[in-house]
Amino acid sequence: MEENWSTFRELLLPAKTGPRRLERALREAIRSGHLPAGVRLPSTRDLAAQLGLARGTVTAAYDQLIAEGYLAARRGSGTRVAHASVSASAAVAIPERPDRWDHDLRSGMPALGAFPRAAWISACRSGLDLLSDHDLGYPQAQGLAVLRQELAGYLARVRAMAVRPDDLVITHGSAEALVLLVRSLRDAGHTEIAVEDPSYPGQLELIVEHGLRPVPVRVDDEGLRVTDLERTNCRAVVVTSAHQYPLGVVLSPRRRRALVQWAEAADGLIIEDDYDAEHRYDRPAFGALQALSPERVAYLGTASKTLAPALRLGWLVLAGPRLEQVVESKRLYDRGGGVLEQAGFAELLRSGGYDRHLRKTRRLYRQRRDALLAELGARFPDWQPVGIAAGLHVVLRLPDGVNDREVAKRLADKGIRLAPLSAYAMTAAPYPGLVIGYGNVGADRLRAAAAAIAGALFKT
Ligand SMILES: Cc1ncc(COP(=O)(O)O)c(C=O)c1O
Repeated sequence: MEENWSTFRELLLPAKTGPRRLERALREAIRSGHLPAGVRLPSTRDLAAQLGLARGTVTAAYDQLIAEGYLAARRGSGTRVAHASVSASAAVAIPERPDRWDHDLRSGMPALGAFPRAAWISACRSGLDLLSDHDLGYPQAQGLAVLRQELAGYLARVRAMAVRPDDLVITHGSAEALVLLVRSLRDAGHTEIAVEDPSYPGQLELIVEHGLRPVPVRVDDEGLRVTDLERTNCRAVVVTSAHQYPLGVVLSPRRRRALVQWAEAADGLIIEDDYDAEHRYDRPAFGALQALSPERVAYLGTASKTLAPALRLGWLVLAGPRLEQVVESKRLYDRGGGVLEQAGFAELLRSGGYDRHLRKTRRLYRQRRDALLAELGARFPDWQPVGIAAGLHVVLRLPDGVNDREVAKRLADKGIRLAPLSAYAMTAAPYPGLVIGYGNVGADRLRAAAAAIAGALFKT
């Protein structure tokens, strides 16, 4: 035990400056097992002398760690590392990355390494400063007013939407917004909902789980086929109008008008999933569909593609009586989302940090996309990349008749992770393809990945 302590004393030397650093160094040493359970710590007087600190500094650090349960003090036997603290922390095995791929080209992931950590921390600090004590009580289920205010301005500016802060609900990602809508439709008597085919399987599972049957409607090069939608009995539809997921087509102006007319005639609801409109590389994105018909369109937005999915920050724009019902349903479900992240995000928007980040990442994604396209063009001159003008992925169209699942399986065997287009289809995909995500992969890695795909497919 003495030995433990003397090695550890070296580690403590940088902690000389004050009680907080001493406290942190001791806590870390206990958590990491450097100071195992049962080790007796020097008396406060001895440690103060060894480290050249005031005795009160050491006493304050010990008292804090005793209060946290890391240390135990018993009269007569001094201060020791507590047993429970060590076993509890040792029991938490932090998982390694769940799987290791040579090339991970999953789609839908933004550049996680580009998350604006410093700007986020500073926005959270300023956001917290602006919160009153009252704001730290239970939140408004609809979301923090200042964030709704900032988002309303952002959506007007960037997506040409007419939104009042009161039309917005802040959610845990757009996933929660979709769930709230599905439940409200179910409560109103809907049993099914139309979805684009192909589409995002993650949404289908939520729809099914929360009680509606998804009805596939095909997508062509103008987006959702509204005439096919009209042939269903659905009165609600989920659509990725700005950038169809995963095919990448934009819903044409003519289809937009037809879709709104359908909703008016069917007394229907259009759920516009605007998951990645910020990432458009050739020209500004079309305005949101919501702007054409705020009464008929429920709009879903998310920070998952612009900042990080881990934030679980999304927003829903909704008009009419359904809004009140959705907010009440959220209140009864989780009493509202976390206020601190919302305050931070509001501040990031207000300070211009979000726009700065978007400008920076748009450049980054364009570089990544160009690197990938150049390499794909060189290696697969006959295979057409589709949906390249926007987003964080492309679809590499394979020759007709090729089984894309087999191709993806062969690539997986070689350590290359990507999805076949048919995995997104409920009926049949329009053509065989590979969905290649480039958002979270650097340009050099993308070139190497394209080379590895060619190697896996063309060499025996
Ligand atoms: C089509 C589509 N919509 C929405 C999302 C984002 O969902 P969330 O905001 O819940 O992270 C994704 C993420 O992959 C997506 O692909």
